[in-house]
Amino acid sequence: MSDHTKTNIVTLTRHVLTEQYQHQEATGDLTLLLTSIQLGCKFVESCVRKAALIYLTGLAHQTNVQGEDVKKLDVLANEMFINALKSSGKVAIMVSEEVDNAIFVEDELRGKYCVTFDPLDGSSNIDAGVNVGTIFGIYQLRDSSKAEIADVLRPGNKMVAAGYCMYGSSCNLILTTGNGVNGYTLDPAIGEFILTHPNIRIPPRAKIYSVNEGNAMYWDDACKAYFDSIKFPKDPARKPYSARYIGSMVADIHRTLLYGGIFAYPADKKSKNGKLRVLYECFPMAMIVEQAGGRATTGKTRMLDVVPTDIHARAPIFLGSEEDVKEAEEFFQKYD
Ligand code: AHG
Ligand code: MN
Ligand code: MN
Ligand code: MN
Repeated sequence: MSDHTKTNIVTLTRHVLTEQYQHQEATGDLTLLLTSIQLGCKFVESCVRKAALIYLTGLAHQTNVQGEDVKKLDVLANEMFINALKSSGKVAIMVSEEVDNAIFVEDELRGKYCVTFDPLDGSSNIDAGVNVGTIFGIYQLRDSSKAEIADVLRPGNKMVAAGYCMYGSSCNLILTTGNGVNGYTLDPAIGEFILTHPNIRIPPRAKIYSVNEGNAMYWDDACKAYFDSIKFPKDPARKPYSARYIGSMVADIHRTLLYGGIFAYPADKKSKNGKLRVLYECFPMAMIVEQAGGRATTGKTRMLDVVPTDIHARAPIFLGSEEDVKEAEEFFQKYD
């Protein structure tokens, strides 16, 4: 008999369908929505892989609502996801980092999901060939809603699914539908995401911290005191933490999810709410980390309990191993 693990591959679609079958009311709509997200990820992966060869590196010579210089790949990825999501017939509202306002899908194509997404995360790293990614969060329309902005200005704890796809040495899609976290690796030969990391659990603690120390002079006292406590531990028995910072949230979170430790983008004197956007960066990553047994906070509030006031609202974020994040929260309580 052949080795079953090689001829019994579990694709993302098969895995989600199997999981969904456990819910009587499942209609397969989420599976179809995820198929359109997979298509977007495969397209972006193929563009990122050959960007330098097809003149896709560099700037698009436009500024987005964030005030950022947009890269060509930001524009391409954004258009791809909008078209893939709209044509799925499962989406009512889309929120993209690259689009000023929420996009309401026309009636004939409107479905029951709201998708928030960062089409290309870490795009400042693109020209250097460093890992970048796509991040997405999924809400269901509120009962009897005809699709209004209030359907997406809800706390992250109302999300029904979240995920990211990292375009790196391999293409990894990490997904939660509220029942744990699973990782899938793209097999380019057959164009399928294959289950490679079932039931990911984040270590309860690890000696790794991930933050842009270039902002340290702008941090508040609680933040400074926390990072000093892990860089210059008072207890002689405790060794200092290692620093790891890639500057692409997707890559920094993927490492944190697998190896543990803490990732942070704190508020500071320059940006009083930090830099990362609540709906399509903080919430999806917070849901994934919590579902893997970790913790995610603004420093003072559970991240998933934040109520966004604007689709591009920002928030400070500390997330990762439960014990490490709890320790950081103690400093915010002490200095409050
Ligand atoms: P994006 O490329 O989608 O605009 O996001 C960039 C974000 C995030 O990926 C990363 O964690 C952060 O910017 C890095 O910011 P700094 O360069 O200020 O550290
Ligand atoms: Mn950006
Ligand atoms: Mn981003
Ligand atoms: Mn982006």
